[in-house]
Amino acid sequence: MASSSLTRRAVLAGGTVLASAVAGNVLVSKLAGARETTRATLEPRETECALAEGGMTRNVFSYGDRAPAPVLRVKQGEQLGVRLRNGLSEPTTIHWHGIRLPIAMDGVPFLTQPLVQPNEAFDYTFNPPDAGSFWYHPHCNSLVQMSRGLTGLLIVEEAKDPGFDADIALNLRDWRLGDDGQFITLYAPRQTARAGTYGTIRTTNWRREPDYDAPAGSLTRLRLVVTDVTRVYKLAIEGAPGLVIALDGNPLQKPIPLDNLAVGPGQRADIIVRIPDTEGAYVTVRDFSSPSPLTVARLRAAGTSRKRALGDVKPLPQNPIAEPDLSTAATIPLEFTATAEQIEKSKYCGDLGYSFWAINSTPWPGASPDPQAPLAELKLGRSYILGLHNRTPHPHPIHLHGMSFKLLRSDKRALPPIWTDTALVYPDERIDVALVADNLGDWLLHCHVIEHQETGMSGYIRVT
Ligand code: C2O
Ligand code: CU
Repeated sequence: MASSSLTRRAVLAGGTVLASAVAGNVLVSKLAGARETTRATLEPRETECALAEGGMTRNVFSYGDRAPAPVLRVKQGEQLGVRLRNGLSEPTTIHWHGIRLPIAMDGVPFLTQPLVQPNEAFDYTFNPPDAGSFWYHPHCNSLVQMSRGLTGLLIVEEAKDPGFDADIALNLRDWRLGDDGQFITLYAPRQTARAGTYGTIRTTNWRREPDYDAPAGSLTRLRLVVTDVTRVYKLAIEGAPGLVIALDGNPLQKPIPLDNLAVGPGQRADIIVRIPDTEGAYVTVRDFSSPSPLTVARLRAAGTSRKRALGDVKPLPQNPIAEPDLSTAATIPLEFTATAEQIEKSKYCGDLGYSFWAINSTPWPGASPDPQAPLAELKLGRSYILGLHNRTPHPHPIHLHGMSFKLLRSDKRALPPIWTDTALVYPDERIDVALVADNLGDWLLHCHVIEHQETGMSGYIRVT
């Protein structure tokens, strides 16, 4: 389905391929004299973008004049300083999904910072402790702002170069556009009360079925980041072997083949692809989440073979996350349910005005100034088990801000012992996860199907 006008190739001449260079809108710069700080400005504003065939989509939101949103890259341990300048006609904030940072930088209105009003600015400064694939998005009127385009990638590069030949970041998401290429209503309440409302146009880096060049015979790192508000991708690869080396920003000790991998809203998968030796051969990443599989991206082997071997791939260094002490960990049950209770519509951050969902029987839209009790209070430095129990017939990607947790067990399936910030919990499944409460503050915990988040499936845990 890729039309040639939408097909643009990444560069290649012998160096690293950066998807941010493809998009041509990197805002990151190193400040002279302050080499350890990478600075960027993100200015959310309304713009137009060629998303569908036959014309520009109006009323797209982007972080700057151009779309897609820029890919920010920073080295592990270096400081990132981002100025948010709000060019929208409504308030916004930025949340740094998966980054373990101080609470004041977490971007949740009312809970962690004031709303950033139109024409106002807010400076975010933090030191990402973990290397991996992360992303950023608003946490105010989130369904509208994210659906219209405000989802960008944040790549934290390993302090020591892991030695791949190319690195391509892919932002996977849908758009709800009508036949005329313009936005239609962003959700349907009947779907909100079920799995969520799907988009009509599916893109990778805002393009449909794009092609990228990758060095022939190389080990190319693909960062697949699902920033869609609803869709759980089912990813597979054709034309070459692919190994999953990290999930949700955290390295796997033992890489696994990419084969029908479920990646839900908010989640990420880093894949190493051994590109074929023959110039012009294609590798295709496909998504089997819908009845007609979608081409996520095609990689075209370019140049003479670099003759790399998948066996050269060493596990990435582990991130510095504290290991929970299971012998002392108290268990906190968290039940995800449907609800009939009504919540009040927020005047401030445009929730959807319905309540369909709840955590521990309490529906909360997650961005309101009303006093709301935490789901649990945790003591700094202690270990805890969160018992995530999905008592609904739909999957929910449950996301925690500020701390990473380890998957312990499911009552339904075998789980890899990975660190993550977002666990996809299937219908009727219970997953236990463990963490050390090592970050002070009020940390949001919510479903990352944004309609579910904004119709009650939100809460927060307090670490004191
Ligand atoms: Cu991507 Cu509150 O999260
Ligand atoms: Cu959900």
